[in-house]
Amino acid sequence: MKLRTILVALAATASFTSAAFAQAPIVIKFSHVVATDTPKGQAAERFKQLAEKATNGRVKVEVYPNSQLYKDKEELEALQLGAVQMLAPSLAKFGPLGVKEFEVFDLPYIFPNKTALYNVTEGPIGKGLLKKLESKGITGLAYWDNGFKIMSANKPLRTPTDFRGTKLRIQSSKVLDAQMRALGANPQVLAFSEVYQALQTGVVDGTENPPSNMYTQKMHEVQKFATLSNHGYLGYAVIVNKKFWDGLPADLRTALEGAMREATTYEKAIAQRDNDLALEAMKKAGKTQFITLTAQEQAEWKKALSPVQKQMESRIGADLINAINKEGAK
Ligand code: LMR
Repeated sequence: MKLRTILVALAATASFTSAAFAQAPIVIKFSHVVATDTPKGQAAERFKQLAEKATNGRVKVEVYPNSQLYKDKEELEALQLGAVQMLAPSLAKFGPLGVKEFEVFDLPYIFPNKTALYNVTEGPIGKGLLKKLESKGITGLAYWDNGFKIMSANKPLRTPTDFRGTKLRIQSSKVLDAQMRALGANPQVLAFSEVYQALQTGVVDGTENPPSNMYTQKMHEVQKFATLSNHGYLGYAVIVNKKFWDGLPADLRTALEGAMREATTYEKAIAQRDNDLALEAMKKAGKTQFITLTAQEQAEWKKALSPVQKQMESRIGADLINAINKEGAK
C-alpha cells in the first residue's frame, strides 16, 4: 500500500473512532433503595425520561431501584467513589457522611405541615444545607418529598408506656435514635433493604415510615398495628458526584438541571397522593389495624418527645433548629 493510502486509511479510522466516542452517551447511574412505585421511584423514572429527551440522548440515565446495586450506607460510599453518579438518600442518612445538620429534618413534630417544610427546603436554609455537601465531593440538586411517618409494630402503640421494651428499626440518624429512646423503645439501625425480613423474623418488633414505603415493601403483611402518628417527616436530597457534575459540558448540565426541576415538581405533586393511596390499600388488605390517636394520646407523644430538640442542639446546632421552628410558627 502506498504511504498516502495508509495515511488516508488511518485518518478515516481515527475520525470514525472519535465519532463513535462522541456519540457514546454519558451514563448517569441513579441508585436508590425503594420500590419503583413510590414517590422517589417514580420521580427517578421521570427524571430519566426528561433528562434523555432534554439532552437528545447524549445522556443516558440508568435507574437501579430497591437496593439492587447498593444498600443505604454503601450507596453513599459508591457515590463518593464515582461508582454511581446520582442518589436520593433520605435526609436521615447524611450523618455518616459527616453532615449531621440534615438530621434536623428528623426532629419530631418540627414541621407542622408541608408549607413549613417547603419554606425550609426551597429557601435559604435548604440551599445552605445542600452547600455543606460540597466539601464531601457531593453536589445537592434538589429536595424530594415523601411524607409524614406512621409507627408500626406487632402491638398497639397508643401511649409512650406501650413503647417500653419494644425494638424498633430506625435509619442511621442520631435524632431518630434519641426519638425512639424518648418514647421508651430500643432503637436499632438497619438498612432499608433488611427491614421486611427483620420484622418478619422478629429481629425487631416495629418501625416507622411513610405509608408509601410501608406498603411497597409489604411491611403491612408482617405488622399487626400501625399508629397514624405523623410524628416526624421523611424526605430526600437528590445528590450527584461533584467531580462528575462539574466535568459535564455546560450545555448538558443546564439541560439536566431543567430536567431535575421538572422531575422535582412532579415528585412533589404525587407524594401526598401516593401516600394516601398506600394507606388506603393497606387498610383494604386488612392485615394491619390502624390506630388514630386521641387528643390526649397525641399530647402524651408530644410531651415525651419534646426534650429531643434540646438534646440534639449540640449535634445539629441551636441556630438551625430555631430557624426551622420559626418557619413552622409562621
Ligand atoms: C428508610 O430507610 O426507611 C427510608 O429512608 C427509605 C427511603 O429511601 O425512603
